[in-house]
Amino acid sequence: MKTLLITGANRGLGFDFTRRMAETGWHIHACCRAPAQADGLQALAAKHDVTIHALDVADFGQIDALKTKLGDEPIDVLFNNAGIMETSQRTLSLDHTNQMFDSLDEDEWMAVMRVNTMAPLRMCEVFVDNVAASDRKQILMMSSIVGSIGSNQTPRWYHYGTSKTALNMVMRNLAADLKDRGISVVSLHPGWTQTDMGGPTAALSIDESVGGLFKVVETLTPNDSGRFIAWNGDDVPW
Ligand SMILES: NC(=O)c1ccc[n+]([C@@H]2O[C@H](COP(=O)([O-])OP(=O)(O)OC[C@H]3O[C@@H](n4cnc5c(N)ncnc54)[C@H](OP(=O)(O)O)[C@@H]3O)[C@@H](O)[C@H]2O)c1
Repeated sequence: MKTLLITGANRGLGFDFTRRMAETGWHIHACCRAPAQADGLQALAAKHDVTIHALDVADFGQIDALKTKLGDEPIDVLFNNAGIMETSQRTLSLDHTNQMFDSLDEDEWMAVMRVNTMAPLRMCEVFVDNVAASDRKQILMMSSIVGSIGSNQTPRWYHYGTSKTALNMVMRNLAADLKDRGISVVSLHPGWTQTDMGGPTAALSIDESVGGLFKVVETLTPNDSGRFIAWNGDDVPW
């Protein structure tokens, strides 16, 4: 039996990835901020090997408490999926004036960095021994092409974009730091997808995006560690 620990499992890409893994027989520790409101996840847990945990990743005390609950249980795949565009709005839009040039909000920027960049690293620090004790030994970071410097031709969201660029550097550091323990670490770009964050006009359905990511993750090998990979398997420019 293989085990997945995933954050932001209650909706969007995280929920669909969790569903697919559960349906293929994985044991899942599915984390979300409000389990009582996570109807889809509750229904999934009634049918499959899914344990739901309350976890706000911005609260590092809650990450430590989850470690106490899970103890030394091996975790084959740790998926740091939870992410935000900003604290108050769910959908990507160029009208996000508090993160465009001339109207930045430093407190908000820190809040986005905490969820998108610092919390994934904290999760890795806390659960690294669990991952090292597993067969697969994989860590996935949900990044975004918005964090890609090489492909950035137009103004993009300062808070969100820099948080994902920094996440990619965290990933590269981890790939080097954890190589000797046999742990692979990659960043993933799911494509612009029709979730609450991506909005209804996004290019990809959740099925297309997560279907692609699922194949990418299934075929990952240690040689892929340190890569920034799109949902279709292509490398994303740094
Ligand atoms: N959709 C896209 O086009 C797109 C493109 C590139 C990258 N991404 C990345 O893909 C990931 C998933 O996004 P999505 O499109 O599925 O967005 P989504 O539908 O808005 O889902 C975001 C998930 O993150 C969770 N989350 C937010 N803040 C959290 C916190 N402090 N602690 C724990 N969980 C938290 C949310 O939980 P709540 O329900 O409690 O808010 C929700 O489960 C994100 O990292 C995002 O940056 C998305």
